[in-house]
Amino acid sequence: MQPSSPGGPLNLLLWRAFLLPVRSSRLDRLLRPLHRWVWRDERRRASKLFRFAQTESDGGRDLSRAAELTADGLLRRLFLRHALDEQRHAALFAERGRALLAAAPYSVPARFEGNWFAPGERGLDDLRVEQQSPESLLAFLHLSEKAAAGRFQIYQEVLAADPQTRALFREVLRDEAFHMAYTDKQLGRIAPRRRGWRLWQARLGRLWKAYLRFAVAVASAIGTVGLLVQYFVLLPPFALLAKKSERRELPGWAPVPTSSGRGQYR
Ligand SMILES: [Fe+2]
Ligand SMILES: [Fe+2]
Repeated sequence: MQPSSPGGPLNLLLWRAFLLPVRSSRLDRLLRPLHRWVWRDERRRASKLFRFAQTESDGGRDLSRAAELTADGLLRRLFLRHALDEQRHAALFAERGRALLAAAPYSVPARFEGNWFAPGERGLDDLRVEQQSPESLLAFLHLSEKAAAGRFQIYQEVLAADPQTRALFREVLRDEAFHMAYTDKQLGRIAPRRRGWRLWQARLGRLWKAYLRFAVAVASAIGTVGLLVQYFVLLPPFALLAKKSERRELPGWAPVPTSSGRGQYR
């Protein structure tokens, strides 16, 4: 399928992009049975598509902002085209999510979405366009588009039971392959000598963010366990003591002697 695009060098880039292979990560391939299970439930599938729609829409806004900020004419056109793609993906995901919800028999919504291992396009990373140089922005975009393309490849493979959602992922995947390719080529154009280093910096940044998320999750689990121990182990003896002393208390008002000799009732 030929993508619609402005002519000239942009068209050439688009054609080249289709020659780049999309490969899922080893981890995603290993987790394929888990992905299959996550996408099996219709209501969970719908809510994941809504979440993806939101991520794509956020990504579209970030890229529009990146197009505003760059002084490079070719990059501006590519960022705008990219932003339009992400907005279109958002609309497609939301539309499919609504169709799935409308067709699904009523049931309790699936609360578990498995977002840590089956996320949308930007994964769990937030993009701060203003804080990035063009080189680091392109490196970040290249890595996240590459990861997204690999994940969408797996999603469409495990969705054999839902041909429409599978066709949607296949369509979106073509754009992601283009995003993955043009960001790499543009990084090579504006920073030919620093391309490798920028990609490593972006990889380390993603690793650091993953570590922070992991540390927050572990700290939250430890906090939960600590509170449960306090509630079920430390508090019960105090509650028992309070009950015991309550039994010794006289019911109603009792006279308490004061310095004046007259009794007061308490
Ligand atoms: Fe997208
Ligand atoms: Fe994309």
